[in-house]
Amino acid sequence: MALVGRNSSNWAICFFGILAYGAVAVPILHEFKPDNIHHIVNHSEAKAVLAASSNWENMNERMMPDVKLFMMLDNFSIIHSKSKEVRVVRDRINEYFGEKYPRSFTSNDVRYHVEKPEEFAAILDIYNRYPICELTIHPRVMRQLYRGQADRAAFAASLPGCRMPVCYNGDLRTVGEVRALEGRFPEVTHVMIGRGLVADPALARKLRGGKGTDREELTDFLAALYQGYTDFYQGQVPTAAQRMREVWFYLIHLFDDAEKLNKQLRRFRTPAEYERIQAEILASCPIRSNVQGDLV
Ligand SMILES: Cc1cc2nc3c(=O)[nH]c(=O)nc-3n(C[C@H](O)[C@H](O)[C@H](O)COP(=O)(O)O)c2cc1C
Repeated sequence: MALVGRNSSNWAICFFGILAYGAVAVPILHEFKPDNIHHIVNHSEAKAVLAASSNWENMNERMMPDVKLFMMLDNFSIIHSKSKEVRVVRDRINEYFGEKYPRSFTSNDVRYHVEKPEEFAAILDIYNRYPICELTIHPRVMRQLYRGQADRAAFAASLPGCRMPVCYNGDLRTVGEVRALEGRFPEVTHVMIGRGLVADPALARKLRGGKGTDREELTDFLAALYQGYTDFYQGQVPTAAQRMREVWFYLIHLFDDAEKLNKQLRRFRTPAEYERIQAEILASCPIRSNVQGDLV
Protein backbone atom coordinates (compact mmCIF):
# COMPACT_ATOMS: atom_id res chain seq x y z
CA MET A 1 0.00 0.00 0.00
CA ALA A 2 1.63 3.22 -1.18
CA LEU A 3 1.56 6.31 1.00
CA VAL A 4 2.28 9.74 -0.54
CA GLY A 5 2.11 12.90 1.50
CA ARG A 6 4.02 15.19 3.81
CA ASN A 7 4.30 14.48 7.55
CA SER A 8 0.91 14.45 9.23
CA SER A 9 -0.96 12.52 11.88
CA ASN A 10 -3.06 10.92 9.11
CA TRP A 11 0.16 9.71 7.45
CA ALA A 12 1.22 8.05 10.73
CA ILE A 13 -2.26 6.58 11.29
CA CYS A 14 -2.16 5.03 7.80
CA PHE A 15 1.39 3.77 8.21
CA PHE A 16 0.68 1.97 11.48
CA GLY A 17 -2.69 0.80 10.19
CA ILE A 18 -1.01 -0.79 7.18
CA LEU A 19 1.58 -2.55 9.37
CA ALA A 20 -1.00 -3.75 11.91
CA TYR A 21 -3.09 -5.10 9.04
CA GLY A 22 -0.04 -7.08 7.88
CA ALA A 23 0.43 -5.37 4.50
CA VAL A 24 3.61 -3.76 3.19
CA ALA A 25 3.79 0.04 3.43
CA VAL A 26 5.48 1.84 0.52
CA PRO A 27 6.13 5.40 1.72
CA ILE A 28 6.84 7.74 -1.20
CA LEU A 29 8.42 11.17 -0.74
CA HIS A 30 5.79 13.87 -1.28
CA GLU A 31 8.33 16.01 -3.16
CA PHE A 32 8.77 13.46 -5.95
CA LYS A 33 7.44 14.37 -9.37
CA PRO A 34 4.18 12.65 -10.43
CA ASP A 35 5.98 10.47 -13.01
CA ASN A 36 8.31 9.14 -10.33
CA ILE A 37 5.41 8.51 -7.96
CA HIS A 38 3.57 6.55 -10.68
CA HIS A 39 6.71 4.56 -11.35
CA ILE A 40 7.28 3.64 -7.69
CA VAL A 41 3.62 2.69 -7.26
CA ASN A 42 3.75 0.39 -10.30
CA HIS A 43 7.18 -1.03 -9.54
CA SER A 44 6.20 -1.87 -5.92
CA GLU A 45 3.02 -3.57 -7.20
CA ALA A 46 1.00 -1.52 -4.73
CA LYS A 47 -2.69 -2.42 -4.69
CA ALA A 48 -3.76 0.71 -2.85
CA VAL A 49 -2.57 4.32 -2.93
CA LEU A 50 -3.21 6.78 -0.11
CA ALA A 51 -2.31 10.25 -1.39
CA ALA A 52 -2.44 13.76 0.06
CA SER A 53 -4.63 16.12 -1.97
CA SER A 54 -1.60 18.31 -2.87
CA ASN A 55 0.04 15.25 -4.51
CA TRP A 56 -3.12 13.81 -5.93
CA GLU A 57 -3.98 16.91 -7.98
CA ASN A 58 -0.92 16.25 -10.19
CA MET A 59 -1.21 12.46 -10.29
CA ASN A 60 -3.02 10.44 -12.91
CA GLU A 61 -4.75 7.23 -11.91
CA ARG A 62 -4.65 5.91 -15.50
CA MET A 63 -0.86 5.71 -15.13
CA MET A 64 -1.31 3.15 -12.29
CA PRO A 65 -3.61 0.54 -13.89
CA ASP A 66 -3.06 -2.24 -11.32
CA VAL A 67 -4.08 -0.16 -8.31
CA LYS A 68 -7.48 -1.21 -6.97
CA LEU A 69 -8.06 1.57 -4.46
CA PHE A 70 -7.17 5.27 -4.26
CA MET A 71 -7.81 7.13 -1.01
CA MET A 72 -7.34 10.72 0.13
CA LEU A 73 -4.89 10.97 3.01
CA ASP A 74 -6.36 14.31 4.18
CA ASN A 75 -9.71 12.82 5.23
CA PHE A 76 -9.57 9.06 4.44
CA SER A 77 -12.23 9.46 1.74
CA ILE A 78 -12.31 7.11 -1.24
CA ILE A 79 -11.21 8.70 -4.52
CA HIS A 80 -11.74 5.60 -6.61
CA SER A 81 -12.26 1.93 -5.83
CA LYS A 82 -12.56 -1.03 -8.18
CA SER A 83 -14.51 -2.90 -5.49
CA LYS A 84 -17.95 -1.75 -4.31
CA GLU A 85 -17.42 -3.56 -1.01
CA VAL A 86 -14.71 -1.08 -0.03
CA ARG A 87 -17.24 1.78 -0.17
CA VAL A 88 -19.66 -0.13 2.05
CA VAL A 89 -16.90 -0.83 4.58
CA ARG A 90 -15.73 2.81 4.47
CA ASP A 91 -19.27 4.11 5.04
CA ARG A 92 -19.88 1.74 7.96
CA ILE A 93 -16.37 1.69 9.42
CA ASN A 94 -17.40 3.01 12.86
CA GLU A 95 -20.19 0.47 13.09
CA TYR A 96 -17.82 -2.44 12.21
CA PHE A 97 -15.20 -1.15 14.61
CA GLY A 98 -17.77 -0.96 17.42
CA GLU A 99 -18.85 -4.56 16.73
CA LYS A 100 -15.31 -5.91 16.71
CA TYR A 101 -14.01 -3.89 19.69
CA PRO A 102 -17.08 -3.17 21.83
CA ARG A 103 -14.90 -2.13 24.76
CA SER A 104 -12.62 0.04 22.58
CA PHE A 105 -9.27 -0.90 21.09
CA THR A 106 -6.27 -1.63 23.31
CA SER A 107 -2.64 -2.59 22.82
CA ASN A 108 -3.70 -6.20 23.44
CA ASP A 109 -5.62 -6.16 20.15
CA VAL A 110 -2.42 -5.58 18.20
CA ARG A 111 -0.66 -8.84 17.42
CA TYR A 112 3.01 -8.88 16.68
CA HIS A 113 4.44 -11.89 14.95
CA VAL A 114 6.55 -13.31 17.75
CA GLU A 115 6.83 -17.07 18.05
CA LYS A 116 10.44 -17.83 18.91
CA PRO A 117 12.66 -16.18 21.54
CA GLU A 118 15.46 -15.88 18.94
CA GLU A 119 13.39 -13.27 17.09
CA PHE A 120 14.17 -10.91 19.95
CA ALA A 121 17.83 -10.64 18.85
CA ALA A 122 16.72 -9.01 15.60
CA ILE A 123 14.41 -6.61 17.44
CA LEU A 124 17.14 -5.79 19.98
CA ASP A 125 19.47 -4.91 17.12
CA ILE A 126 17.04 -2.11 16.20
CA TYR A 127 16.58 -0.93 19.81
CA ASN A 128 20.37 -0.79 20.19
CA ARG A 129 20.60 1.79 17.39
CA TYR A 130 18.52 4.34 19.32
CA PRO A 131 19.10 6.35 22.53
CA ILE A 132 16.68 4.36 24.67
CA CYS A 133 17.08 5.25 28.37
CA GLU A 134 15.74 1.89 29.60
CA LEU A 135 14.34 -1.24 27.99
CA THR A 136 11.75 -3.36 29.84
CA ILE A 137 11.94 -7.01 28.84
CA HIS A 138 9.07 -9.41 29.56
CA PRO A 139 10.61 -12.64 28.24
CA ARG A 140 7.57 -14.43 26.86
CA VAL A 141 6.65 -15.03 23.25
CA MET A 142 3.32 -13.68 22.09
CA ARG A 143 1.82 -17.11 21.43
CA GLN A 144 2.54 -18.17 24.99
CA LEU A 145 0.29 -15.43 26.48
CA TYR A 146 0.71 -15.86 30.27
CA ARG A 147 1.05 -19.63 30.22
CA GLY A 148 4.18 -21.24 31.61
CA GLN A 149 7.05 -19.35 33.13
CA ALA A 150 8.67 -16.18 31.85
CA ASP A 151 11.73 -17.44 29.97
CA ARG A 152 14.60 -16.49 32.29
CA ALA A 153 17.12 -18.40 30.15
CA ALA A 154 16.15 -16.35 27.06
CA PHE A 155 16.38 -13.20 29.21
CA ALA A 156 19.87 -14.20 30.43
CA ALA A 157 20.92 -14.80 26.83
CA SER A 158 19.61 -11.39 25.67
CA LEU A 159 20.99 -9.29 28.51
CA PRO A 160 24.65 -9.06 27.36
CA GLY A 161 23.45 -7.77 23.96
CA CYS A 162 21.50 -4.84 25.46
CA ARG A 163 23.37 -1.53 25.18
CA MET A 164 20.83 0.34 27.30
CA PRO A 165 19.86 -0.21 30.99
CA VAL A 166 17.39 -3.08 31.34
CA CYS A 167 14.28 -3.51 33.48
CA TYR A 168 13.11 -7.11 34.04
CA ASN A 169 9.40 -7.98 33.96
CA GLY A 170 7.55 -11.27 34.46
CA ASP A 171 6.29 -13.58 37.23
CA LEU A 172 7.55 -11.63 40.26
CA ARG A 173 5.09 -12.31 43.07
CA THR A 174 7.05 -12.19 46.33
CA VAL A 175 9.94 -10.36 47.99
CA GLY A 176 11.95 -13.59 47.77
CA GLU A 177 11.42 -13.84 44.02
CA VAL A 178 12.48 -10.23 43.48
CA ARG A 179 15.61 -10.67 45.61
CA ALA A 180 16.52 -13.89 43.77
CA LEU A 181 16.13 -12.11 40.44
CA GLU A 182 18.31 -9.20 41.59
CA GLY A 183 20.93 -11.68 42.80
CA ARG A 184 20.99 -13.56 39.52
CA PHE A 185 21.03 -10.44 37.31
CA PRO A 186 22.83 -7.67 39.25
CA GLU A 187 23.13 -5.55 36.08
CA VAL A 188 19.33 -5.17 35.88
CA THR A 189 18.47 -1.59 36.91
CA HIS A 190 14.75 -1.99 37.70
CA VAL A 191 12.06 -4.64 37.94
CA MET A 192 8.49 -4.23 36.77
CA ILE A 193 5.72 -6.06 38.63
CA GLY A 194 2.28 -6.56 37.11
CA ARG A 195 -0.04 -9.29 38.35
CA GLY A 196 2.00 -9.72 41.54
CA LEU A 197 0.92 -6.25 42.71
CA VAL A 198 -2.74 -6.99 42.14
CA ALA A 199 -2.34 -10.31 43.98
CA ASP A 200 -0.58 -8.62 46.90
CA PRO A 201 -1.20 -4.86 47.02
CA ALA A 202 1.39 -4.51 49.81
CA LEU A 203 4.22 -6.10 47.81
CA ALA A 204 5.94 -2.80 46.96
CA ARG A 205 5.88 -1.78 50.63
CA LYS A 206 7.29 -5.16 51.68
CA LEU A 207 10.10 -4.72 49.14
CA ARG A 208 11.01 -1.49 50.93
CA GLY A 209 11.09 -3.32 54.26
CA GLY A 210 7.51 -2.49 55.30
CA LYS A 211 4.75 -4.73 56.61
CA GLY A 212 2.34 -6.96 54.77
CA THR A 213 -1.30 -6.01 54.46
CA ASP A 214 -4.10 -6.88 56.90
CA ARG A 215 -7.89 -7.27 56.77
CA GLU A 216 -8.63 -3.68 57.66
CA GLU A 217 -6.32 -2.19 55.06
CA LEU A 218 -7.53 -4.60 52.36
CA THR A 219 -11.16 -3.87 53.18
CA ASP A 220 -10.56 -0.12 52.76
CA PHE A 221 -8.51 -0.66 49.61
CA LEU A 222 -11.17 -2.82 47.97
CA ALA A 223 -13.94 -0.41 48.93
CA ALA A 224 -12.00 2.50 47.40
CA LEU A 225 -11.32 0.48 44.24
CA TYR A 226 -14.98 -0.54 43.89
CA GLN A 227 -16.07 3.07 44.36
CA GLY A 228 -13.41 4.24 41.88
CA TYR A 229 -14.66 1.80 39.24
CA THR A 230 -18.27 2.79 39.94
CA ASP A 231 -17.40 6.47 39.40
CA PHE A 232 -15.34 5.64 36.31
CA TYR A 233 -18.31 3.76 34.81
CA GLN A 234 -20.66 6.61 35.71
CA GLY A 235 -22.55 4.79 38.40
CA GLN A 236 -22.87 1.42 36.62
CA VAL A 237 -22.35 -0.79 39.66
CA PRO A 238 -22.66 -4.15 37.81
CA THR A 239 -19.78 -3.13 35.52
CA ALA A 240 -17.72 -2.09 38.54
CA ALA A 241 -18.42 -5.52 40.12
CA GLN A 242 -17.19 -7.23 36.94
CA ARG A 243 -13.91 -5.29 37.23
CA MET A 244 -13.63 -6.41 40.86
CA ARG A 245 -14.02 -10.02 39.69
CA GLU A 246 -10.88 -9.48 37.58
CA VAL A 247 -9.02 -8.03 40.57
CA TRP A 248 -10.01 -11.07 42.66
CA PHE A 249 -8.73 -13.39 39.94
CA TYR A 250 -5.25 -12.42 41.21
CA LEU A 251 -5.98 -11.32 44.79
CA ILE A 252 -7.43 -14.70 45.77
CA HIS A 253 -3.88 -16.09 45.78
CA LEU A 254 -3.20 -14.09 48.93
CA PHE A 255 -5.79 -16.09 50.91
CA ASP A 256 -5.71 -19.54 52.46
CA ASP A 257 -8.70 -21.90 52.39
CA ALA A 258 -10.50 -19.83 49.77
CA GLU A 259 -11.26 -22.50 47.12
CA LYS A 260 -15.01 -22.63 47.75
CA LEU A 261 -15.44 -18.85 47.86
CA ASN A 262 -13.19 -18.47 44.81
CA LYS A 263 -15.60 -20.66 42.83
CA GLN A 264 -18.45 -18.39 43.90
CA LEU A 265 -16.42 -15.32 42.92
CA ARG A 266 -16.01 -16.66 39.39
CA ARG A 267 -19.76 -17.19 39.05
CA PHE A 268 -21.52 -14.31 40.85
CA ARG A 269 -24.21 -12.48 38.90
CA THR A 270 -25.12 -9.38 40.89
CA PRO A 271 -23.16 -6.69 42.75
CA ALA A 272 -24.87 -7.76 45.98
CA GLU A 273 -23.59 -11.33 45.54
CA TYR A 274 -20.09 -10.03 44.88
CA GLU A 275 -20.21 -7.83 47.99
CA ARG A 276 -21.36 -10.76 50.14
CA ILE A 277 -18.63 -13.13 48.87
CA GLN A 278 -15.92 -10.52 49.32
CA ALA A 279 -17.04 -9.79 52.87
CA GLU A 280 -16.98 -13.53 53.63
CA ILE A 281 -13.45 -13.98 52.27
CA LEU A 282 -12.19 -11.00 54.24
CA ALA A 283 -13.86 -12.27 57.40
CA SER A 284 -12.99 -15.96 57.25
CA CYS A 285 -9.94 -16.72 55.06
CA PRO A 286 -6.46 -16.27 56.58
CA ILE A 287 -4.16 -13.84 54.73
CA ARG A 288 -0.95 -15.51 53.57
CA SER A 289 2.43 -13.88 54.11
CA ASN A 290 3.22 -14.57 50.44
CA VAL A 291 1.11 -15.06 47.34
CA GLN A 292 0.93 -18.72 46.28
CA GLY A 293 0.12 -20.37 42.97
CA ASP A 294 0.37 -19.44 39.29
CA LEU A 295 -1.30 -16.11 38.48
CA VAL A 296 -3.01 -17.37 35.34
C1 LIG B 1 -4.94 -8.19 32.96
C2 LIG B 1 -3.66 -7.66 32.35
C3 LIG B 1 -3.72 -6.51 31.58
C4 LIG B 1 -2.56 -6.01 30.98
N1 LIG B 1 -2.64 -4.88 30.24
C5 LIG B 1 -1.53 -4.39 29.65
C6 LIG B 1 -1.58 -3.20 28.87
O1 LIG B 1 -2.65 -2.62 28.68
N2 LIG B 1 -0.44 -2.75 28.31
C7 LIG B 1 0.76 -3.39 28.49
O2 LIG B 1 1.78 -2.95 27.97
N3 LIG B 1 0.84 -4.51 29.23
C8 LIG B 1 -0.26 -5.01 29.81
N4 LIG B 1 -0.18 -6.16 30.56
C9 LIG B 1 1.13 -6.83 30.70
C10 LIG B 1 1.83 -6.37 31.99
O3 LIG B 1 2.24 -5.04 31.86
C11 LIG B 1 3.07 -7.22 32.29
O4 LIG B 1 4.00 -7.07 31.25
C12 LIG B 1 2.74 -8.68 32.43
O5 LIG B 1 1.62 -8.85 33.26
C13 LIG B 1 3.91 -9.49 32.96
O6 LIG B 1 4.27 -9.11 34.25
P1 LIG B 1 3.78 -9.90 35.54
O7 LIG B 1 4.20 -11.34 35.39
O8 LIG B 1 4.45 -9.20 36.69
O9 LIG B 1 2.28 -9.77 35.59
C14 LIG B 1 -1.33 -6.67 31.15
C15 LIG B 1 -1.29 -7.84 31.93
C16 LIG B 1 -2.43 -8.34 32.51
C17 LIG B 1 -2.34 -9.61 33.32
